[in-house]
Amino acid sequence: MTTPSPAPVALITGASRGIGKVLAIKLAKRGIDVVVNYKANADLAEETLREIRAAGADGFTVQANIEEPDDIDAMFDQVRSTYGRLDIFVANAAASAFKPVSQLKLHHLDRNWAMNVRSFVLGAQRAAELMDSAGGRIVVLTSYGSLRAFPTYASLGAAKAAAEMYVKYMAAEFGPRNITVNSVNGGLIDTDSLDFFYNRVPGMAPMSSVIEKIPLGRPGTAEDMASAVDFLLGPTAGYITGQTLTVDGGLTVVAPPFWSDTTGDLHDAVFGVAGAGDGDAAS
Ligand SMILES: NC(=O)c1ccc[n+]([C@@H]2O[C@H](COP(=O)([O-])OP(=O)(O)OC[C@H]3O[C@@H](n4cnc5c(N)ncnc54)[C@H](OP(=O)(O)O)[C@@H]3O)[C@@H](O)[C@H]2O)c1
Repeated sequence: MTTPSPAPVALITGASRGIGKVLAIKLAKRGIDVVVNYKANADLAEETLREIRAAGADGFTVQANIEEPDDIDAMFDQVRSTYGRLDIFVANAAASAFKPVSQLKLHHLDRNWAMNVRSFVLGAQRAAELMDSAGGRIVVLTSYGSLRAFPTYASLGAAKAAAEMYVKYMAAEFGPRNITVNSVNGGLIDTDSLDFFYNRVPGMAPMSSVIEKIPLGRPGTAEDMASAVDFLLGPTAGYITGQTLTVDGGLTVVAPPFWSDTTGDLHDAVFGVAGAGDGDAAS
């Protein structure tokens, strides 16, 4: 039976861990009830819900493999029967095979599309149906593989690029209903999936070789990403739609040659304290 909630209601896919969990607790602190989706880790999802309640909001956990359209339908049916509406949908969960293009098999391509693009589109359709005349917010999490090519990321990077383009089409279509649609594009973000990518993909370059090239000199945190999503979901971002907000410490603005590979005075001009800003050596 529907229990009308005076609080806004959010659904976050993949909120048992990582960025989704941090975001769930942030929203709860703003008085938003959160539906916590997960695939396998029921205990972790319940822990997220406990922290949501400790922050003063409510919600429920829902197991759904978002690769499966029937699971997506069942998840949204549960939102409808519990709350009767939805205000925020965050398509956060992602997974893919990390392989060179030449080694991608049919099942890799099909599962990647189902998991990372189809689930976003089906979810956004159902979310929009549940949003009332006040409108709503939709955000999808993407990554810098949509902008740059790096080893083994073709499948997920291309899916993220597709999601970012869907964001523009959805923004145009859902705008008249006061629903904004945006994406937050992350660089290296310190979560379980970063650990998997650098430590369990055989032959992957060392993470340190990438971190030294990031202008801000560190990986991002789940908090960095969740804060950007929270901004787009918040009261001050109501006129922003169809956009991708990049949260990467500057990783995608640099190109070779990298400052970290320079030497001598040139290197010191950026990394050394003495001489910083003293660029005109010939004078
Ligand atoms: N970490 C990075 O470096 C990085 C960088 C840029 C962008 N991003 C993006 O940010 C988002 C979140 O990443 P993250 O690193 O926080 O992820 P994560 O820590 O690996 O957590 C993944 C979450 O997704 C859930 N999940 C996985 N497969 C699922 C499925 N088939 N159905 C439903 N839920 C599923 C997991 O549930 P279980 O716990 O039940 O398995 C978990 O809650 C992703 O879209 C990712 O591409 C991440």
